[in-house]
Amino acid sequence: SDRGLHRDGAGRRRHHFPHLERTAIGTIVKGGTVVTATDTFRADILIEDGTIAAIAHAIPAAGHTTVDASGALVFPGFIDPHTHLDMPFGGTTTIDDFASGTVAAALGGTTTIIDFALHTKGDSLANALKTWHAKAAGKAAIDYAFHLTIADGRPETLEEIPEMIAREGVNSFKVFMAYKHVLQVDDETIFKVLKAAARYGGLVQVHAENGDVIEVTVKEALSAGQTAPKYHGLTRPVELEAEATSRAIRLAEVAGAPLYVVHVSSAMAADAISDGRKRGLPIYGETCPQYLVCDASDYDRPDFAGANYVMSPPLREKRDQAVLLKKLKNGELHAFGSDHCSFNNCGQKELGKNDFSKIPNGAPTIEDRVAILFEHGVVKGVIGLNQLVALASTNPAKLFGLFPRKGTIAVGSDADIVVWDPGAERTISAATHHMKADNNIFEGMTVHGRPRFVLSRGRIIADDGRFTGEPGTGIHQKSAPFRPVQL
Ligand code: URP
Ligand code: ZN
Ligand code: ZN
Ligand code: ZN
Repeated sequence: SDRGLHRDGAGRRRHHFPHLERTAIGTIVKGGTVVTATDTFRADILIEDGTIAAIAHAIPAAGHTTVDASGALVFPGFIDPHTHLDMPFGGTTTIDDFASGTVAAALGGTTTIIDFALHTKGDSLANALKTWHAKAAGKAAIDYAFHLTIADGRPETLEEIPEMIAREGVNSFKVFMAYKHVLQVDDETIFKVLKAAARYGGLVQVHAENGDVIEVTVKEALSAGQTAPKYHGLTRPVELEAEATSRAIRLAEVAGAPLYVVHVSSAMAADAISDGRKRGLPIYGETCPQYLVCDASDYDRPDFAGANYVMSPPLREKRDQAVLLKKLKNGELHAFGSDHCSFNNCGQKELGKNDFSKIPNGAPTIEDRVAILFEHGVVKGVIGLNQLVALASTNPAKLFGLFPRKGTIAVGSDADIVVWDPGAERTISAATHHMKADNNIFEGMTVHGRPRFVLSRGRIIADDGRFTGEPGTGIHQKSAPFRPVQL
């Protein structure tokens, strides 16, 4: 293209920002098979100024940078709807911040994350959001949006919800039915948040576990001298997830509100979501890679390695894994998030060496999320390519108000694109991953498929496993208000 964009006032070509220059000139993703949530077709993609300008059978390469997609699948950039970067939690702070976390995400094919800005009791939602903006600014290597958590049901807090939606671009609010004395709120608060969100265009997310009962079971275990990691799982039985899930759905039903159930770990909880949907309710469910490939037996790993698998809800049984995968396939679960919440074994997980209830909850999963779904969904023949895109990109974009700017390959959308080599093979390991954590719960697993290139708004940010972007170039994305979508 010959637009003046390529030259400065004196007619000199600009060389200070080579990646911007390349974007302005235009890039063609050439020779690949484009996969969206609905279609699969051979096409080239022309990118101009960071957005998709044309999609056509064969676009002449003349004058454009070419990204070789031959033999590859071309996906919309994946969206991780559930991350916890730089988050104070469990007496420490998650080890990945917005720099390391987003670089690792990018290398796994994720081009947008939605992170949880954590509200604390008595504080304002505005301040929580401000804190998270400061954590992300200058560090994020990919685009990002925010959810807010809500830690109290004070009138001042509830009154902030409309302005968070209308002015700040936050369209979803997470409430916790667990983590008593820390993040847990009661049913009164949940109900009020549901009503406010429904009225102003918000989607309430729920962490569904019965925290009151868990407080009892944990105390019982500890007083019986049961301190090892496996008691994390044993004190959080699946019924307490199913009960809380059903309760949250019933509360949403009475409030006339949509609901998104995060990190569904079990068949029993997933069935509660299916039941709600059979009643015609706008309920959505998310699960995560860890619940597809790890299970309760991982808590028995020797030398305190079981602590790396401590997360909430806890890991379940093999039969749960199969049910969750089937529900991802048939649309009874709608989104695939990492719930990335990384801690080092050394110094952080160790806080619970003598008391499982003091092990910080969470695991590093932002980098391998898509690979796990590709391997255990697509390669194993359970989930089709279009459904993979729906779960890991398009549906999160629709639910969290980013679609169609994000979440698909279409003219006018941001050029967030993953050129994916389906045949590449690698073995996941903490020794080679790009997250800061010293452990990886998928350690030793072999997966097929890997990004050849990752583009963020037209810039190549990952090239053959190397990060080629720049922390600080990610841009905050405002979410549009939630509108019920048929998923
Ligand atoms: O164990 C987990 N899931 N840690 C992250 C916090 C949460 O509940 O999502
Ligand atoms: Zn051009
Ligand atoms: Zn949670
Ligand atoms: Zn989480």
